[in-house]
Amino acid sequence: MKDEHYEDAVDAESLLSHSTSTDDQQKRIKRNKERRKLPACALSAGLLASHLLTALAAAWAGSHWWRYAGDVDDTCAKWTTHASPVTQEVAVKYSNVAYNGSFFHQTIYRGDASPEVDAAWSALGVDYRAMRIPEEYAEAAGLTKNHVKIRDKYGGGYPANMEGLHHLHCLNLLRKSSWYNFEYYKKMGEGPFKNEEHVVKVHITHCLDIIRQQLMCTADTGVLGQVWWNTEKPTPFVDFNTEHRCKNFDVLRQWAEKHQLPEADGHLPKDYLEPPAGVVYPEIP
Ligand SMILES: *[C@@H]1O[C@H](CO)[C@@H](O)[C@H](O)[C@H]1NC(C)=O
Repeated sequence: MKDEHYEDAVDAESLLSHSTSTDDQQKRIKRNKERRKLPACALSAGLLASHLLTALAAAWAGSHWWRYAGDVDDTCAKWTTHASPVTQEVAVKYSNVAYNGSFFHQTIYRGDASPEVDAAWSALGVDYRAMRIPEEYAEAAGLTKNHVKIRDKYGGGYPANMEGLHHLHCLNLLRKSSWYNFEYYKKMGEGPFKNEEHVVKVHITHCLDIIRQQLMCTADTGVLGQVWWNTEKPTPFVDFNTEHRCKNFDVLRQWAEKHQLPEADGHLPKDYLEPPAGVVYPEIP
């Protein structure tokens, strides 16, 4: 069969191509004849093998398809994020979201320091207390005997924060530390600003570098086109108002909110935590 196709192709080619020299045609015919010398059994063995491979590939794809096609969102969330009780218990969904990339129009998150702007950021879950991660999820989530554990009589499990909310907490700290806001929050002296200035600086640079790593880890491969502005003298400007495929953030935030450990007010029982069972670092790692 393959041989016939080959010949068809040659014939069609010579009909179409007027420039083909007789020499070339002779060579091609000779090559064709040599191909025919291949023993028939070798050809059918090759065919059989390729059919077998196709069948195996199809069977593999088929057996995996029913597992993944069921919930692409769930598969994507679990494949692209470290194992976590959140992806086990929350239905992560993706949808298209239009970013507000406005250059000049303010949004509440960009405003100068004020109680309203703080409230908007706070509503994103940037200051939630740690959650309790039950023992059953610990190993997959990367929690080991080196991690702090709550005593069983207080509910057990591991205190932990959702990384995505930590990133937002960090971004919020960068906002508060920007030169036009810094004095306001320093005077207020809450949260990170309770510390001495050199510690605040360390905190800020920690946050900066976490956000750098996060952005590199999830590097967005979308593109920013350009638009025209200025009706008098049309000028290109980058179009930051782009569409993105986003997780259902608010559902994830709600989960973290609901699973917070009880408010302590500095009154946690002295024996709330189990004593260290693994490594104790000589300095903050
Ligand atoms: C972004 O938000 C601001 C403030 O709400 C609004 O004025 C502006 O039109 C928005 N831009 C886009 C592209 O949605």
